[in-house]
Amino acid sequence: MKKLWGGRFTKTAEEWVDEFGASIPFDQELVEEDIEGSLAHVTMLGECGILPAEDVEKIKGGLIRLLEKAKQGELEFSVAYEDIHLNIEKMLIDDIGPVGGKLHTGRSRNDQVATDMHLYLHKRVTEILGLIRGLQRALIKQAEKHVETIMPGYTHLQRAQPISFAHHLLAYFWMLERDYERFSESQKRINKSPLGAGALAGTTFPIDRKRTAELLGFADIYENSLDAVSDRDFIIEFLSNSSMLMMHLSRLAEELILWSSQEFQFIELDDAFATGSSIMPQKKNPDMAELIRGKTGRVYGHLVALLTVMKGLPLAYNKDMQEDKEGMFDTVKTVVGSLKIFTGMIETMNVRADVMERATKQDFSNATELADYLAAKGVPFREAHEIVGKLVLHCIKQGVFLADLPLEVYKEASPLFEEDIYDALNPRTAVNRRNSAGGTGFAEVRAALAKAKQLLGTP
Ligand code: ARG
Repeated sequence: MKKLWGGRFTKTAEEWVDEFGASIPFDQELVEEDIEGSLAHVTMLGECGILPAEDVEKIKGGLIRLLEKAKQGELEFSVAYEDIHLNIEKMLIDDIGPVGGKLHTGRSRNDQVATDMHLYLHKRVTEILGLIRGLQRALIKQAEKHVETIMPGYTHLQRAQPISFAHHLLAYFWMLERDYERFSESQKRINKSPLGAGALAGTTFPIDRKRTAELLGFADIYENSLDAVSDRDFIIEFLSNSSMLMMHLSRLAEELILWSSQEFQFIELDDAFATGSSIMPQKKNPDMAELIRGKTGRVYGHLVALLTVMKGLPLAYNKDMQEDKEGMFDTVKTVVGSLKIFTGMIETMNVRADVMERATKQDFSNATELADYLAAKGVPFREAHEIVGKLVLHCIKQGVFLADLPLEVYKEASPLFEEDIYDALNPRTAVNRRNSAGGTGFAEVRAALAKAKQLLGTP
């Protein structure tokens, strides 16, 4: 088949070579953006007097027909035409005749593909921002129910100090808030138009780049034509922001997996988000959480892949850059899917407040309370730590917990201990006393919840 760029060629490539070089199997994802970009371009060509009005009308008519068909999924693409840009141009010419060949005036596939990617990513990031908000709302809803649900807090995955379950959930709210900020900040760079940069050097035609930018909803244009066609920072940034988001989801996924195990039993995932075993009838596996934890790996992979593709590339466009697409599409799909699944999992999970609270009474996570108790009475904290450490050791030897020790034992360790230590040892008291800013005390958690809700504009 004759290529649209076949003029200087004397023979055609073999099919398997075409197949290797083609991006149409995956860049057809950009079909709508490609046609929208062309519509803006040809409109501007008409307005600037570069193409006569009747040609513009014919081209627009053809493009609109193609857009309709694209939306119905009725277009059939061919590897012989390499990529989405040439496929659409070929279809246009087939439909309206040689005048369709005027569409590519003052434009190159290099600024065209960059434009498509910017348009595409701007839409997808908008969608992702909405989904992050949805997950934040789900976390808030669960947190509201569990301000006074207490659980063991961990460091090194060892019981550390008791905390409010809502406080734990809200930690993820704030992580997601940073993700939200990063994605929305990146829109500033995504929302710039490369269109009109031509192949690399601009064009001799009196085009109006600001006009096409405006027609496509871009806030601004790239300043430098070389940069416009060779920049893939905005995709790398997207992959980086996505990697960070997936890392956050993966951490929470890991906690859900641990918490739903027999060893913890802190939560039960809804049946809708778990699966059974084909051999062990008793099992209920947290598959969706595991899968999200696992999918984090492919997103990191896409980030490193594109950084590596771009490293050492001379200006301006190089065919290497065609490798930017599959990772980006896959990342969009992965992030969108993971956020949706996660929101459902959080909304429907069953929290076993009784098990969590019981756990806080079966450990030494209240030991800090005793050290703080002595420190508040003037004992240097380091000495108080030592005294309580010995009491803990004593308990371990006796097979009891701190609250089980009689006051005489405490008095022996330090005459400053009084009857009120038993209240201090109560995990609920321990949690509620931590009302330093950002702490787990119930009043602080309620304040944090109010702040979070205000941020999201939810009543
Ligand atoms: N399919 C190409 C890509 O995805 C489009 C740009 C091609 N430009 C070129 N001069 N070969 O990168």
